Amino acid sequence: MASTPVCVEDFEPYLKAGVSDFVWGYYRSGADGEQTLRDNPRAFQRYRLRPRCLRDVSQRDTSTSILGHRLAFPVGVSPTACHCFAHKDGEVATAKGISSVGSAMILSMWSNRTLEDVAASVPPDTPLLLQLTILRDRFRVEATIRRAERAGFRALVVTVDEPMLGKRAHYQDWEFDVRDIAFPQILLPGERYIVDQIPFSDSRTWNEILWLKQLTSLPIVLKGILTAEDAVEAVRHGAAGILVSNHGGRQLDGVPATIDVLAEIVNAVRGSGVEVYLDGGVRKGTDVLKALALGARAVFIGRPALWGLAYDGAKGVEKVLGILKEEFSLAMALSGHFLEPPLIVLKDEKTALSRVHIQVPSLSLHACASVLLSASENIPKEKNQCRDAGTEGGSEAERTPRPTLVLAGGRPHKDWFWKQSLARRRS
Ligand SMILES: Cc1cc2nc3c(=O)[nH]c(=O)nc-3n(C[C@H](O)[C@H](O)[C@H](O)COP(=O)(O)O)c2cc1C
Repeated sequence: MASTPVCVEDFEPYLKAGVSDFVWGYYRSGADGEQTLRDNPRAFQRYRLRPRCLRDVSQRDTSTSILGHRLAFPVGVSPTACHCFAHKDGEVATAKGISSVGSAMILSMWSNRTLEDVAASVPPDTPLLLQLTILRDRFRVEATIRRAERAGFRALVVTVDEPMLGKRAHYQDWEFDVRDIAFPQILLPGERYIVDQIPFSDSRTWNEILWLKQLTSLPIVLKGILTAEDAVEAVRHGAAGILVSNHGGRQLDGVPATIDVLAEIVNAVRGSGVEVYLDGGVRKGTDVLKALALGARAVFIGRPALWGLAYDGAKGVEKVLGILKEEFSLAMALSGHFLEPPLIVLKDEKTALSRVHIQVPSLSLHACASVLLSASENIPKEKNQCRDAGTEGGSEAERTPRPTLVLAGGRPHKDWFWKQSLARRRS
């Protein structure tokens, strides 16, 4: 165990050492063979940043906004249940940690502290969002929404990848009576604990989103979308945001890593005004930069916040987020790319090299767009061999990708890139 954690992963052993085997299994577990759990962080490593030099990077603005609320840097905390397993103050400590660094928090509906306590523990301008599970009992869901509205939550984050719980690899059942755990968000007035499991709605459809929309004026973010088709449905059903997520590998095992489907979803909702975020495997500042470069407006972390919580409560959460903020700012500087497009990310695999041309975040990281450049069409065959562009010999024209662009959806977009650069040069 590192005596002073220097990177996010250094915090994990503190959680392991401080909790029971059951809790450790509950927090770390993925579903089934945990293929997706493993793939989430690894997938980031398949992308390469292509840095530019001799840019003035002395003034860096890491801030962004989600749904109009400012974040000091583009990392928030995803909803995870039962923070009291990791620290006695539970979600109140997490909320204090995020607010002290200007981050955001999505509170789980399965939290141990009440949403009112959490809201009261931070300044009123802290971006708090509430995660909702669609239960069979709509009345319970509605009651929770009313409480969230009264407490000043900024949005509802509806988890759409969980019609039932995935088969978790390291725990099957709660090891103790659910009456020992407080789930105050799902209690109705007069209830002290839930006697039986509260059934999730496994008959849910897109109609549930329409029902929620007519119930509340809070913006609705859909968490758990992994395909362009569902992203388009999300737009059609009035979502304000999409959180690209595979539940940290805890639901359907074998789905892609989130970073691998991000561009597909960004392209599917382009022009709709719907914001796209990502979670799953974000562990480093360069992961954040890659996700933003691929079109995310912000990213969220799940387990790392729990590691920080176990390390030192609110201060531990603050430390984890602080490290990500510093690493992200450093990555912006070292890539030299935050001022001007295009940031180029290369994704290399054993057999193919695809190039991803990214319109880099503006200074305030507000505008990100991405287009995929078909490598096979644009790179001379002998150069199409898992190596970064621009590092080999040949003329500038050979090394520079030609302007036949293919959006992630597959539509050719001739001249887009060059028109953009021309317009920039003129302005
Ligand atoms: C212990 C644990 C509990 C979770 N509880 C919830 C939850 O209550 N609601 C939800 O939508 N997602 C839940 N998730 C999924 C997270 O919101 C998030 O998608 C995931 O943790 C992100 O991956 P990461 O842990 O690699 O950062 C949970 C994840 C973990 C690890």
